[in-house]
Amino acid sequence: MSPLQMIGALALLLGVRAVHADPCSVAIEGSDTMRFNLHEISVPADCAAVEVSLRHSGKLSAKVMGHDWVLARAIDVSAIVNAGLAAGYSHGYLPENDRRIIAATKVVGGGESTVVKFSTSLLQQGIRYAFFCTSPGHSSSMRGTFLFGDDNKVVRTLTTP
Ligand code: CO
Repeated sequence: MSPLQMIGALALLLGVRAVHADPCSVAIEGSDTMRFNLHEISVPADCAAVEVSLRHSGKLSAKVMGHDWVLARAIDVSAIVNAGLAAGYSHGYLPENDRRIIAATKVVGGGESTVVKFSTSLLQQGIRYAFFCTSPGHSSSMRGTFLFGDDNKVVRTLTTP
């Protein structure tokens, strides 16, 4: 390969990288069948901030089938869901000023989208995080694993007695 071809190949590689999705930006969808289209979200540890775009791909209204995207430590999910239930629809099914909530979007209905951007300064590698929807009854099916950085660290933490 000539130097010129090398430069061409490199430019092509960089171009492919440029059009490739930003690893610190995540797009997720919620459906009328109470499902997220992702079960796991993995974010590199060098992301200073993460942007999550939630789109409701269905047609049902926010009151009937509203979805939000909430991030917390896995061990805090149940408590946040219960507190969100008590807070109700008018509060986006989220307790106010709850420090266990790392990030959260508003509740969206069919055809709507919302975005949340948050700093990763609150995240630690090796901790188990979960994302979930706090609409009543949704978190059992609308829930996934959120990995920050090296997932091997999480696995090691879990297997260490
Ligand atoms: Co939901």
